[in-house]
Amino acid sequence: MKFFMDTANVEAIRKYAALGMVDGITTNPTIIARSGRNHEQVIRDISAAIAGPVSVEGIGQTAEEIVKEAEVFSKWGNNIVIKVAMNEEGLRAVRILSGKGLKTNVTLVFSASQALLAAKAGATYVSPFVGRLDDAGVDGMQLIRDIMDIYKNYGFKTEVIVASVRSTKHVEEAAKAGAHIATIPDKVFAEMWKHPLTDKGIAQFLDDHARSKSNK
Ligand code: E4P
Repeated sequence: MKFFMDTANVEAIRKYAALGMVDGITTNPTIIARSGRNHEQVIRDISAAIAGPVSVEGIGQTAEEIVKEAEVFSKWGNNIVIKVAMNEEGLRAVRILSGKGLKTNVTLVFSASQALLAAKAGATYVSPFVGRLDDAGVDGMQLIRDIMDIYKNYGFKTEVIVASVRSTKHVEEAAKAGAHIATIPDKVFAEMWKHPLTDKGIAQFLDDHARSKSNK
């Protein structure tokens, strides 16, 4: 299973990449705006900080507008993936971009039908949003299981990125469903190695070790 980070925080990316845990990055316009930095600059910095794929959203009302943005963004690094929102124009854009040899990530996916279309269009990745579905009272993780089943039935090569991750539970469930990737916000990443019983155990071992070392 691959771990992507869902962030534009370059410091956090460097920190977790040093642990060997970061296989790629996803961003969206909201994440970039939240960073308070210039769009191009932050993407260039992220692209330079990590070898894996970096998803950047191509915004446009038509496929041609999206493709035009994609052509600019893809010059900002050699690992840029173009994120394309799921709709009719988005699907057309994915076809054009795939034809040009550019990698794509179809985003804002909330149904198995949408995921099926993304795969048929030749998307490299598809991003179903589990957290936003949960927020709307729908079981987001069931969608992941359904997509994995459908992709296996037909041998689609599109990789499933579990997106809109809110908790470590989401990451665990994504792994159980066999999803290729979970894209994880830095806050959730930092919770993954924590457990109160681990902290308690470490404190006790430190204490006991110090005591036994001082035994004559
Ligand atoms: C990732 O590709 C998405 O942009 C992101 O996970 C959305 O998360 P949110 O629902 O917390 O905004």
